Amino acid sequence: MVIFLVTIVVGILNGLDVIEFDRKTLMAHVHAGTLGWITLGIFGATMWLFSGEKPATQRHARYVRWLSIVAIVAIALYVLTLFLAEPIPRPIAGSLVLLVIAGFLGWVIAQSWRIKFTVPHLALLAALITLTIGAVLGVLMVVYLAGGAKFLPQGAFMSHPASLVAGYLILAGMAITEWGLKSRVAPASISRLGIAQVVLPFLGGLALMLGSLLDIFALIILIVPFQIGGVLIYLARLGSGIMRARWLEGSNSRLFALSAVFLAVNVAMTAYLIANYADRFEEIPSWLLFALDHAIFIGLLTNGLFGLVYEVSRAQRSFWPWADHVLFWGMNAGLVGFVAGLILQEAIIKQIFTPIMGMSILLAMLTYTIRVQTEGRR
Ligand code: HEM
Repeated sequence: MVIFLVTIVVGILNGLDVIEFDRKTLMAHVHAGTLGWITLGIFGATMWLFSGEKPATQRHARYVRWLSIVAIVAIALYVLTLFLAEPIPRPIAGSLVLLVIAGFLGWVIAQSWRIKFTVPHLALLAALITLTIGAVLGVLMVVYLAGGAKFLPQGAFMSHPASLVAGYLILAGMAITEWGLKSRVAPASISRLGIAQVVLPFLGGLALMLGSLLDIFALIILIVPFQIGGVLIYLARLGSGIMRARWLEGSNSRLFALSAVFLAVNVAMTAYLIANYADRFEEIPSWLLFALDHAIFIGLLTNGLFGLVYEVSRAQRSFWPWADHVLFWGMNAGLVGFVAGLILQEAIIKQIFTPIMGMSILLAMLTYTIRVQTEGRR
């Protein structure tokens, strides 16, 4: 949440068009959000789900604790290097982030034999595999920008964001919402349908990664049927959980349910984008990319992660109970207005809704930080 502040402050000022930010600041905005807030949040969810709710002991505890501390420092460092004009520190910090990501993937694979494996576990494992490959591309790109890695195809600059946003984040969102709407109440053994729900979008994300890296049209378009197949199974399996959400109560069931709705909306937007631009990626209008990116970053992941943070601080929800309603309606109405402003290319709409979205998220982070701290001291 602390690192996410960088994203929100730059985001609000950018959305209000009061400052014209340069590319490196915008890249810091993107990565403070995708690595600082989302990926650290997903690491937390991974530790929760793959610990089998059992405390870690001795050597195991030391490994997980140090991995978390290095993850926080490495990601904060990487975001800092993005502000610096000096290109050399970036590959070093980026490589450290990659090592941490691989460390978590290794831990998850080791833990998978020790816990009851369910669909959210499979989705998180698939998400971390996609993230690791996407981060390797990211590190090669920073080395390329620093003058090395001349062998890297230009397609990497599309493959990295496309596969991480449409692959890694969709799978991570699928894990969090399935846990929030279903497994946390009734953890069921993994079924063939559950496996297909995850494996289809996982393969679709890898096909998009390889296809956009090597400019192979046939691979790029594969994500559409694979993701649609996966999301139809997902809606069939979770539809009743979404319908049962208590939309007017301050609970987190509506955060998980709306996150699930955004997952389906994002798969539809990705299908539209690929169907219309698969053979001419360079012509994708930036407003469409930004609309899709923010619908995934905020609509899918931030709703889902706040659902988990609410769960962690559940005993403290009597602190500022009204804030749960302001953040839920403010953040999501702000997001829909912001995305509408982008799609309609109406600056005034974007300028009205960006601060509503940004300020609601800031309120959420203040509320949850106080609740989590109080919970921690209990
Ligand atoms: C080790 C981790 C990572 C590294 C080293 C890395 C590196 C990079 C680099 C070098 C760029 C291009 C910067 C430029 O053109 O100036 C970039 C762009 C981008 N990255 Fe990452 N990245 C990482 C993780 C992520 C993650 C986890 C996500 C999303 C989930 C992500 C999403 C993006 C997006 C959306 C862009 C912007 C594309 C554009 O507007 O052209 N990155 N990244």
